Amino acid sequence: MVQIVPSILAADFARLAEQIENVERGGATMLHLDVMDGHFVPNFTIGPPVVESIRKVTRARLDVHLMIEDPDYYAPIFIQAGADQVSVHQEVCRNLDRTLRMIRNEGALAGVVINPATPVAALEEVLDVADYVLIMSVNPGFGGQHFLPRSLEKVRQLDRERQQRRLQLPIEIDGGITLENLPDVVRAGCDWIVTGSSLFHTPDPAAAFSQMRQTAQEATAVRV
Ligand code: DX5
Ligand code: ZN
Repeated sequence: MVQIVPSILAADFARLAEQIENVERGGATMLHLDVMDGHFVPNFTIGPPVVESIRKVTRARLDVHLMIEDPDYYAPIFIQAGADQVSVHQEVCRNLDRTLRMIRNEGALAGVVINPATPVAALEEVLDVADYVLIMSVNPGFGGQHFLPRSLEKVRQLDRERQQRRLQLPIEIDGGITLENLPDVVRAGCDWIVTGSSLFHTPDPAAAFSQMRQTAQEATAVRV
């Protein structure tokens, strides 16, 4: 089932619990948490203490996206803090296979992320060690950027590949998702659709969530 996954990066951090409650009221069951270290990407966001606090105020699955230089050291710390699933960038992992196995061993789902400049082919050897793949549809680091249309072809390619190899592998997409491009993203084969600004930069995030979910469901019915 296609899921809309709110990214709290666009939320008001001073009212985080309230904003999370808003999207949960709209029906959200998974939350996307962006972790940035000022090295892999030119921005900072949250660390383990914030994940721990979020864990206490929600029952939603916590989907932690590590945009950091040293995921091997930090992934277990974020899992300890309450992450249900952790994704790491292909671009920073020297031993990607080992990192994904380590995340699974620590008790979380292991996701692998590729940047816009990284081809789907770079994942060929790890598709059966990953629990999901995240395709970045903007360059990571900031919310509110424009969707890069070439990402759709990457999603289609990965969708074909998982079908050929009979893999149960959710495809997640992150960056620049709007009500307008959502149907294309669903039809290309995405299962988890991360969205920040389109929810939290509206007067009513709960209503925006329901509307996006409705649009995604309608598009699923005509998936090609
Ligand atoms: C960008 C982050 C995204 C971001 C998406 O580096 O990984 O999760 O929050 O935000 P929007 O939906 O505003 O593009
Ligand atoms: Zn993200």
